[in-house]
Amino acid sequence: MTEERGNVLQQLKVSIDQEGFALESHPKLGPAEAAVQGVMLAGTVQYPKSVKESALQALAAAAKASVIISKNEIEREPFIALVNADVCTKCGRCIPVCPYGAILGEVRKNIEFVSAACQGCGTCVAECTVEGALTQEGFTDKQVIAQVDGALGENASEKVLIYACNWCSYAGADLAGVMKIQYPSNTRVVRTMCSGRVSQKLVMYAFSKGAGSVLVTGCHPGDCHYINANLQTEKRVERWKKQLEAKGVDPDRLQLWWVSAAEPKRFADKATEMSELISKLPPEELQSTTTKVKVRGA
Ligand code: FES
Repeated sequence: MTEERGNVLQQLKVSIDQEGFALESHPKLGPAEAAVQGVMLAGTVQYPKSVKESALQALAAAAKASVIISKNEIEREPFIALVNADVCTKCGRCIPVCPYGAILGEVRKNIEFVSAACQGCGTCVAECTVEGALTQEGFTDKQVIAQVDGALGENASEKVLIYACNWCSYAGADLAGVMKIQYPSNTRVVRTMCSGRVSQKLVMYAFSKGAGSVLVTGCHPGDCHYINANLQTEKRVERWKKQLEAKGVDPDRLQLWWVSAAEPKRFADKATEMSELISKLPPEELQSTTTKVKVRGA
């Protein structure tokens, strides 16, 4: 990859593969556009290809671009993050985790949220530690927690709670159902747009309600619909496992697993493993979870 091309892609926040070529948003559904809204791809920026193939792709990219510029308004994702300026402490934790650079400004001085650039992964919301400062439309803590409550219901300690990202893992779980691939009936799935939306609060809340095990699932690295938001998830889960251990909870009860939309068996196998893990735990480990894990403000 030339340095200039690398710089341009970096500035535009376009994901690249291991060889440095730009990644399309979806090989079949978005072959001429990047995951970043408004950025089109054509030619060898994507991979070595013939003149004919490049020209065809350029036509597709131009058609996509004309749809955007022919309108007076830009449609944005409905699930974007919202800032409550009255509560935000301007700590700036959210700035580096946004894959789209939608949060600008200086720590403790001024934080500017560019809602038009937000694509709705919710990673900033999961990073925020100030109650009520950042929320995600359609996936507020209250809304997700209500789903967790419903999912765990009675006998929470027997349940495997799975947070699944909309684009890969949830589709993989769905396909497992369609293909009639068996997985344990004590499995409960809660959907978020991206694994990056799963926060410490959401994970600990499930344990505070006595969940037997919690599995966070997302797209494989490099496949996240929101560039690289799932890499934040990876770092966070490691941190939360240590926090659970410090509280005297078996850290294996929380795990992270990558599942693509085409891997229903991988989803079912992991759900089975998490269910078996519960059955092997001493009853006192499961019974003591609610006293060991507490969540403030939930
Ligand atoms: Fe699947 Fe981000 S969209 S992990």
